[in-house]
Amino acid sequence: MFLLSCKTGQKPSQIKSGDGLFQLFEEPVGRGTFYSDKEGVFAEKGMVASAHVAASKVGTEILKSGGNAADAAVATFFALAVVHPFAGNLGGGGFAVIRDSEGQKLALDFREKAPLKGHKDMYLDESRDVIKGLSRLGHLASGVPGSVAGMVELHEKLGSKSWKQLLTPAIELAENGVKLTSGQAGGMNRYKSTFQKINGAATVYYVKGDSLEFAEGEVFIQKDLAESLRRIRDSGAKGFYEGETANLLVAEMEKGGGIISHEDLETYDAVWRDAIAKKYKDYNIISMPPPSSGGVALVQLLRLVEPYPLKEWGWNSANTTQLMIEAERRVYADRAKWLGDVDFVKVPITELMSYPYLEERWASFKENKASDSREISGGAVPFYESDETTHLSVVDKEGMAVSITTTLNGAFGSKVVVDGAGFFMNNEMDDFSVKAGVPNMFGLIGNKANEIQPGKRMLSSMTPTIVEKDDKLFMVLGTPGGSTIITSVYQTLLNVIEHGMTMQQAVNARKFHHQWLPDKTFIEKDALDLEALQVLLNKGYTIESQTRTLGWMDCILVHPNGMLEGASDPRGENTSVGY
Ligand code: DON
Repeated sequence: MFLLSCKTGQKPSQIKSGDGLFQLFEEPVGRGTFYSDKEGVFAEKGMVASAHVAASKVGTEILKSGGNAADAAVATFFALAVVHPFAGNLGGGGFAVIRDSEGQKLALDFREKAPLKGHKDMYLDESRDVIKGLSRLGHLASGVPGSVAGMVELHEKLGSKSWKQLLTPAIELAENGVKLTSGQAGGMNRYKSTFQKINGAATVYYVKGDSLEFAEGEVFIQKDLAESLRRIRDSGAKGFYEGETANLLVAEMEKGGGIISHEDLETYDAVWRDAIAKKYKDYNIISMPPPSSGGVALVQLLRLVEPYPLKEWGWNSANTTQLMIEAERRVYADRAKWLGDVDFVKVPITELMSYPYLEERWASFKENKASDSREISGGAVPFYESDETTHLSVVDKEGMAVSITTTLNGAFGSKVVVDGAGFFMNNEMDDFSVKAGVPNMFGLIGNKANEIQPGKRMLSSMTPTIVEKDDKLFMVLGTPGGSTIITSVYQTLLNVIEHGMTMQQAVNARKFHHQWLPDKTFIEKDALDLEALQVLLNKGYTIESQTRTLGWMDCILVHPNGMLEGASDPRGENTSVGY
């Protein structure tokens, strides 16, 4: 056991026993290793965890000035659109899961939609083969953006501060500039030639002169983006979906062969949906329903392993890992078959999470041998590209929690910058099943439930989640990572509730991933020790160790003494700021 006892601002390692507030943890027992020994950030009143320190600071300042978690989330969201253009966005979409201070659970869907001129075969050639890259790069790859509508809706329903106040910090960051981190500078440099190819002169902010590169510490100013944000500040949703920004966006589409029209923008709506809220032991798992697969999949994954003594076996031990892989195999097969936009297809949400269904699904599990994904369904090969989504978690002093995952899909989305408006458009159309059985950029395959239809939302893996313990706020979590989002959230959650880790340890712990097809388990380097690895290999598992890391988590844990632990992923530049 180790004693964690802390006051605001102290690091666990600086704390002596008897130092005021404290909480006991059991030393996690297991066979895995940690990516780093980064420590969590502790604070008493409020916490914001996000992909960029400047954005987390913006959110925390809003909390300090009396704003609630919804206010802080909105302000952080717009700040991320400026300081983290990889994934923070005006031209993308996402989901918010909220637990208000009274315990009411809400789920907001601001996922992009297929344009009205979109159709099932829009990425196929005459021989019905997929035209390589068309759903990923350039103007045709974008869905109708939902982020601005989502933030307006979140603020109208739950916000307490003025809209103007929440937009101001982002406008200032765009207008006066922000110092580039090495990650942000490197990201833009890496995609320089693609930006130039897709946009020509429009990439002015994102591309330096031919022989120049962005450097860490350099001040990065985005004047057009500041103007776009001002229009949103002054006119709300109309400041984006109508008027100057809408004109610029539609003109950009027309110039580059895209199909998003004024009608698409004017008819876009963010939708409140019934949050997934299901029990796992003493915990309530609150997460996103379709069009994300995240909530359903997470509950299925947890319930499939619920009867087993994971804690006794230890994290990343052979037994625990085997069970989780087999659960993942079955759940991702269900995802491909059943899940899609509930406004267009019938999804058996309740049935998929029910114990009798899951018991039947588990009948083929064999302890001594790996299952074969081909016996569950057909095969496919993945394609991996560096990609970007971003998650933010907020808790305020009244116990309101907001968990938002938002995305452009790939890094900088379609790489199209709306000329004059200064933001990137998403390439979310690739999340549809562009042809039955053909994998998307995350190797995920789909079927009818996720085929393109005008106005339909593409299936997602984003899993913004909130957990209650004994009906009280316990944890807020989420991450980017495409198809690996669900399994990263799954492991992080189990690392705390089954394996006794602190929030930060759970984030630091190395992770693994299986998604039914391809029939392989991807592991972060050293995620499993040699003994566990040997047991799994002997049972017939194919295991591939990767240099690529899994997840950029941003999480908050409420300790029993009320102390908040912000845990941001050491794999990225993610930072928690509390007060
Ligand atoms: O909605 C989804 O599932 C994907 N568009 C998420 C993409 C993503 O997480 C990329 N980031 N690493």
